[in-house]
This record gives sequence, C-alpha cells and structure tokens, in this order.
Amino acid sequence: MNIKLAEYGQRRERLMKKIGTGTAIFRSAPTVIMHNDVEYVFRQDSDFFYLTGFNEPEAVAVLAPHHEEHHFVLFVQPKDSEKETWTGYRCGVDKAKEFYGADKVYPINELHEKLPQYIEKANRIYYHLGRDKNFNKVILSYWQRLMAAYPKRGAGPVAIEDPNPILHSMRQVKSITELEMLRKAIGISVIAHNRAREFVQVGHYEYEVQAEIEHAFLSHGGIGPAYPSIVASGANACILHYIENCRQIQENELLLIDAGCSYGYYNGDITRTFPVSGKFTGEQKAIYELVLEAQLRSIKSVQPGKSYNEFHDIAVCVLVQGLIDLGLLKGDLEEIIKEEKYKPFYMHKTGHWLGLDVHDVGVYKQGEGTWKLLEPGHLLTVEPGIYISPNIKPLKGQPEIPERWRGIGIRIEDNVFVTKTGHEVLTTGVPKMIDEISL
Ligand code: GLY
Ligand code: MN
Ligand code: MN
Repeated sequence: MNIKLAEYGQRRERLMKKIGTGTAIFRSAPTVIMHNDVEYVFRQDSDFFYLTGFNEPEAVAVLAPHHEEHHFVLFVQPKDSEKETWTGYRCGVDKAKEFYGADKVYPINELHEKLPQYIEKANRIYYHLGRDKNFNKVILSYWQRLMAAYPKRGAGPVAIEDPNPILHSMRQVKSITELEMLRKAIGISVIAHNRAREFVQVGHYEYEVQAEIEHAFLSHGGIGPAYPSIVASGANACILHYIENCRQIQENELLLIDAGCSYGYYNGDITRTFPVSGKFTGEQKAIYELVLEAQLRSIKSVQPGKSYNEFHDIAVCVLVQGLIDLGLLKGDLEEIIKEEKYKPFYMHKTGHWLGLDVHDVGVYKQGEGTWKLLEPGHLLTVEPGIYISPNIKPLKGQPEIPERWRGIGIRIEDNVFVTKTGHEVLTTGVPKMIDEISL
C-alpha cells in the first residue's frame, strides 16, 4: 500500500494555489552520523515527503506556480554506480522525472546555477528557515542578491515567508489514502501490543518485550518503531519517556508499554498498562480505573466542532476528582485544577496530533487563547495517565503519599480519528478494560 503519485501532485497543486506568485522551496532531510563514518537509517523530512514522496537525501523541491514551463522542479543526487555500491540505489535525474512527476529534474550540484531562475520572478520566497543552516544561508544570499537588484528590476521577492502555516494545515486533515496508511501503521501497532501482552511473564526483561514488539513491526512490513519503544515495569512507568528497557519484571508489577509502528512514514502511537501476572493490587486497580474512566470520558468529547482542549480538560477533571476521592489530593476541585496542584501526578497534556510525525504538525490554537476546533480528518491521541513516582513530592498543603501508592505509573493511549458525525477509535484492537487485562 502506498500513496499514489497523483495524490502528491494534488497536494502540490493545492499548495501552489495558495502561494500564487510565490516560489516554495523544500529541502530533504540530512543524513545523520551515528558514529565515525556510520550513518543512522535515513528518515526523510515529513514536509518534503508529503509533497514529493521522494525518499533520498541531498534533494531540493521547488514549486514555482508562476513559472512558464516548470511548476514542480526537483534537484536530486545523480546516478553514480560507484557510490551506489556503498550507500544504495539512487533514483537519478532521468527516473525522478518519470517516477515523481517533476516538470524538470536537475542534478543537485546544479542547484546554484539553476535555482535563481525559479525565484527571480516570484513575489516572495516560501521557505522554512530550518535545521539546515548552510541551506538557510544559501536561500538568504539569493534573496539578498535579488533584493539588491530590486530597484533596477522593480520585481523580485520582497519577503521570505514560512510555508508551514499553509502546509501544516493541509497535513492536519488526513486524506482517505492517508487514513488507510495510518490504519495500516496502527493495525501493526495493535498486533505488536497483543503479541507483547501474550508473551510477557514475571521474570522477563523489558528488552525481551521490546524485541517482541519490534519483531511484529518489521515482520508486518513496518519501517520500525515510530519513536523509541517504552517498556516500563514497576516504577519505571513513572518516567514518561523511559527507553532504557533493561529491567527485569518483578511479581505484582504493572507493565506500561508505549509503542507504535511506522509504516510508509505514517505512525501509530499506543499505550497500554496491565498487571503482568494478571492481578492488580488494590491501589493499582484504583488508579487504573481512574485513568480508564478519564480516558473513556475524554474520548467521548472528541467530536467535530469541539475545542481541541476539551478532551484534556475533561481528563484533568476526572483525574483530579478521583485523586481527591482516594485521598491523594485534598481541597476544592476547581482550585486544584486552576492552581495545577495535580501536576505532580499528571504533568503532560492528554494528547497530540498524529500523522507523518508522531507529534504531528498543525496548530493547537488559532490565535491567543482560542483553541483549534476539531474537524473531520483530524487524528489525535488521547492519553491520560497518573504517575506516582517513588520520590513524589506533594505540593504545599497537600497530603504525604503513603508508600503503598508509590511506584504506580499508568497511561492508556488510543488513536482517535475525527469523523463527520463523531469519532472512530482506531486502536480498539488492544484490550484495555479491566476484565480483559486481568484474571
Ligand atoms: N510515545 C510518545 C507519546 O505518546 O507522545
Ligand atoms: Mn505514546
Ligand atoms: Mn502519544
């Protein structure tokens, strides 16, 4: 399964309509050194990939809707059989035109010579000043040169504008094919979670569970983990991004697994927490019930037209009331929420956009103080949790936390797609109800 060439073309057309007489320039991701002359596996820049589907480094994509002949131009690494022997297949100039639908393709070493013709007549340059500092300098120096010539020409780009607000609002709403890709990534993530839960026993090391998960990712055609897999037993679950995964799982412990598969660069992001032996302690069960209730109530509020933050506010409200009822917080519900006195137990937001990036692009607010409204096509995670670290420090005036509660960390995370009439939870394949995960 893959995004079709035509869809990349439609995306470019939509962007070009919005930039009118501007020229947009996108840079591929760099290769990243792991150590000495060994590189990490290449991961394309998501914006670049969204617009081109081209998966090589050392490339530049130009969209010039006002140009007479070439609206979509690619600069790519040329074929080089000697280099390809070492670092793998390159598409090359000729095939890039055929495979990726560019109007014109140049070898990347001609960038300096060929790029100016696509910029000089534009009224602005759309370019995100990003992580490639050298390329930033190149773009700025073109612009300065054109600005110096402006009085004589009376034409040329008068501004550099960040394309991200336009592009990321496009990426925020998933197409039908993107949803299929996401279902695939999430489907593999579901298989991996179920495999891990069926495998794990007291005495296993966390990394053995990680191996089961990542085996499932790869053996079902995924690229690998969408982010470093978190397999956190006991108190390790109180560390939000625990990725060492090196501890042996003990009796009576919960295991928190936060793992998702990347498939064609689209990502799943699922968390489940369960008692490894099948039995909750009373305290574990009380906290689990609370997080589950917060999550279920929170998911219900994911509806088109609702403010982005509503599901977070609901989760906080349920969690805080529950912590008060359990005697772990004390005081007035509203005051605790307003003064964020719950933060030692719950320090993150209840979700994020999900897509080509795990923490996907797109705004959460539309102007100061106004949350984005949910729309059909949005995909987000809903992931409340409670973390009672062994070292938890109650805030002033709050109760000391008895030992029996300490070391409990629970998060439950689903991926929720906003539909025209409500929502669809894409991760229902991994059980989370108490009777499904305990004896
Ligand atoms: N796994 C990262 C997150 O849940 O946001
Ligand atoms: Mn996660
Ligand atoms: Mn997440």
